[in-house]
Amino acid sequence: MTDNSERKAQILELADIQGTLLRQRPWPYTGAYFLLRIDDAADGRKMVRQLAPQVASAERWWDPPNRAWFSVALSHAGLRALGVPQASLDSFPPEFREGMAARAARLGDVGESNPEHWDPPLGTSDVHVALSVFAPDDAGLQSVLDGAREALNGLPGVSVIYRLDAHQLPTGRTHLGFVDGIGEPDIEGAGVASILQTQAGGDHYGYLPGFGPTIKAGEFLLGYVNELGRVGPMPQPDILGRNGTYVAFRKLHMRVAAFRRYLKDNASSPEEEELLAAKMVGRWRSGAPLVLAPEHDDPDLAADPQRANDFAYRQEDPRGLRCPLGSHIRRMNPRDDLSDTFVDVKLHRALRRGATYGPMLPEGQLEDDGADRGIVFIFMGTDLVRQFEFIKTQWANDGDFVGLGTEKDPVIGDNDATGTFTIPRQPIRRRLRELPRFAVTKGGEYLFMPGIRALNWLAELDA
Ligand code: HEM
Repeated sequence: MTDNSERKAQILELADIQGTLLRQRPWPYTGAYFLLRIDDAADGRKMVRQLAPQVASAERWWDPPNRAWFSVALSHAGLRALGVPQASLDSFPPEFREGMAARAARLGDVGESNPEHWDPPLGTSDVHVALSVFAPDDAGLQSVLDGAREALNGLPGVSVIYRLDAHQLPTGRTHLGFVDGIGEPDIEGAGVASILQTQAGGDHYGYLPGFGPTIKAGEFLLGYVNELGRVGPMPQPDILGRNGTYVAFRKLHMRVAAFRRYLKDNASSPEEEELLAAKMVGRWRSGAPLVLAPEHDDPDLAADPQRANDFAYRQEDPRGLRCPLGSHIRRMNPRDDLSDTFVDVKLHRALRRGATYGPMLPEGQLEDDGADRGIVFIFMGTDLVRQFEFIKTQWANDGDFVGLGTEKDPVIGDNDATGTFTIPRQPIRRRLRELPRFAVTKGGEYLFMPGIRALNWLAELDA
């Protein structure tokens, strides 16, 4: 590739990119995920034609009249149901063609998380289209929902087969009590160096320290140069692939009562429970990172977007005395930890979206009330194997890369009550035992999120 075309490749076509890919939603927000089945290709294409103008692009994400967010993604079966030609279907990578359920064993979706226990229709060939619809409040949500409903009106060949309501509370806290969505990759050319939301719900434009090296857009968007220095493989024709990406969609049920009981059983005071929880995640529940606040929570630090993510591991905490090597955030983004190994962390970054579903378990309650609650985890990137599957198998469900043998992520690992979690301490480390599974997979799909031009191409297919 010439210098010129390389430069051209990095100018992001923001108006063609579904906004959720490059932008975060400021909280609070409310919304829902819908899954649809297409029984008639012509109806399916008509639906896509009507939905495409409603998708919020990365360019229009913050425009006041558009402060509601709508995105569309399709499964391989969905592309087939729309009438995408076989040669094009075959140009998608094998993991996407197989689907998430077929890859359960490698992802650690075993035992209770096995696809045979998933909520129907998740993991079945009925799932063709996934819509996510979000807005800051109920009124905004209603207006996007009305638009979407209109797009489906009079199309008997398209059915809504699943709905999952989701939200983010004004506190930004998720079920285990933690603020989430702080660490995100800084994507080259995305138009905003890094954006973070605060509990106050504001957007912070401009540079925020601590997001690590800028990551090439091709890691998250098809058609651009990636961290390997080239434009990666794209589904064909180009108009279908360009500005699209792959999505790992997972419904993760959280065992909140079990998490609280585990903390209580392994601590001698409420303060120690908080410390244990922080050691497992790598941040206090407020969001303050342990590397910068090792002994006590620091809500002021957590609330300061200039500081809350501004840390690395090798200099500040090489042995994990502050933030354990096996904690969730240190596994999921080892930052500079692996800089003297062959692993290039930039090839395994996670672009996370998603939301909380289900009612909060009342504060202090230690018994499960039977409600379904958890997170809808959305991962986006151009290489599901090198990114999502690598992180899940090598960093979440194994401990070798940080010298922890088979020890798994304490929060999301497929632990089965025989799990351990090592907390480095002086003079001797502490090892927690009998770690149960706190997150159970209730379903998942691999999806393709096309660019907006590609949606129109799909709508006009002549099949
Ligand atoms: C039940 C499921 C999960 C819960 C409750 C959870 C919770 C959290 C929390 C509280 C944080 C700290 C806030 C932040 O740094 O943004 C975090 C960070 C993160 N999580 Fe998760 N998470 C879950 C699943 C996952 C999965 C499945 C992955 C990837 C496969 C993942 C990847 C990450 C990454 C990349 C970070 C940011 C790390 C950093 O940049 O320092 N999480 N998560």
